[in-house]
Amino acid sequence: MKASIVKGDVLDLACGALIVGVFKDSLTPSAQALDKASGGLVSKWMESGDIHGCVGKCAEFFGFPGAKAERVIFVGLGKKGKARELPRILKLGLEKAYLGKEVVITCLEWLPDEIPEWIAQTAGRIACNVFDRPRNYKTKDIDWKKPKKIELFVPDGNEDIETAFLEGFTVGEGVRRTKEYGDMPANICTPKFMAQECMQLGEEFGLDVSVYDEKALEKLGMGCLLGVARGSHQPARMVIMEYHGGKKGEAPVALIGKGLTFDSGGISLKPGKGMDEMKYDMCGAASMIGAITTAAELKLKVNIVAALGFTENMPGSAATKPGDILKSYSGKTVEILNTDAEGRLVLCDLLSFVKDKFKPKCMVDAATLTGACIIALGNDISGLFANDEEMAVSMLMAGDASLDPCWRLPLDISFTKSLRSNFADLANISDGRGAGSSTAAAFLEEFVGDTPWAHLDIAGTAWKSGKEKGATGRPVPLLISFLKDLDIE
Ligand code: BES
Ligand code: MN
Ligand code: ZN
Repeated sequence: MKASIVKGDVLDLACGALIVGVFKDSLTPSAQALDKASGGLVSKWMESGDIHGCVGKCAEFFGFPGAKAERVIFVGLGKKGKARELPRILKLGLEKAYLGKEVVITCLEWLPDEIPEWIAQTAGRIACNVFDRPRNYKTKDIDWKKPKKIELFVPDGNEDIETAFLEGFTVGEGVRRTKEYGDMPANICTPKFMAQECMQLGEEFGLDVSVYDEKALEKLGMGCLLGVARGSHQPARMVIMEYHGGKKGEAPVALIGKGLTFDSGGISLKPGKGMDEMKYDMCGAASMIGAITTAAELKLKVNIVAALGFTENMPGSAATKPGDILKSYSGKTVEILNTDAEGRLVLCDLLSFVKDKFKPKCMVDAATLTGACIIALGNDISGLFANDEEMAVSMLMAGDASLDPCWRLPLDISFTKSLRSNFADLANISDGRGAGSSTAAAFLEEFVGDTPWAHLDIAGTAWKSGKEKGATGRPVPLLISFLKDLDIE
């Protein structure tokens, strides 16, 4: 699918489908033009209810009088367009337009109060992903049709808007890469496979990639990461990807991702229902792959290092057992009280390694870390934790701007205290039942030192369950927005 802008008169657009917005109580400029050209048909059909201004209501017309487009699709915008609704409205309109070879969208008119570049960027990203379908392994699959080209209607042409629209498409492609890895079954998507993919992406996007196998991890002393891997036949891998877009010698931004290619819980085995979804437990790492490749594609002027910890968590006979004590890369010892709290064990080694080796100016990690985060925030908002106010504000703003929101949850000494162990420096779970996301974050905080750090718990937002089961590619949009803001500074 290609993306471009198109200029001129809306009536002259000889495209396969034209998507036009109508407010509840008024018409957008494009709808007005169509109304005039058709002798008032739009107003008439709005009165009769055939065309609707209610949010997301669609009406399709073939051969609309006065328009050169093969199809015109009217979409309701509500009383006054709301920025938050843009993705949903655009998706609904595009889904109706899928048979059009070239589809023109007129969203710049939908949000009179928003910055046009923001609308163009957001629309580009959404349009890029609307027609994504998870790759399936069905032996007989139906042919999936989608448009060849999506064009943003910019009546008087503007280069900045074109750039923003194409940028949005690039972010959408990063989101798609992340989704593809997330959706892959764990028997294909193993740590070794992911390491190979990272090497290949390194070539494609001009990144330096190094892969650490178990021998190398042992040498580094990553006892916690290796402790998680011990119950599986699939050996663990750590992958470091570096993008040099900033000044030479400038400290990088570190992106750290949890890459559990499957999380059975280990000896503290999970219940069977829904366990298939634990193939998504590598979405943190997949999103960091999406972010660093997209940053490279956008040529952002920042240095980035991504550290990804890939392993399975399985109950094999060599598996770590409750009561075992592991020694982390930092030297701190950890008593394992529940082998299902494995994400923090992988992350703690990555965080302290990256902090020591790369001296980053800040670190962001993303992890499908706790079921408790889904209970707290649901499936639309990621959990945010930060040891630094500026980091927290930057992440919140990036989430807002990219419509990939997060909400800050607390870190507190009381959570740290709840991780006390009689036998080691720390226990891997808290002694109470409450605030599971905060206690997990407090565990991680023990390994970041003074480095400004933000942790995103994406357990609720990285994938959808049920009929629409599939990875979402979040929080790639948030991360790109965050990295772009650093580029400006
Ligand atoms: N990967 C899970 C978290 C998770 C659970 C994500 C459900 C999405 C849906 C993580 O490794 C885990 O098992 N966490 C435990 C921690 C507990 C043992 C303290 C959890 O949340 O139950
Ligand atoms: Mn687990
Ligand atoms: Zn997990």
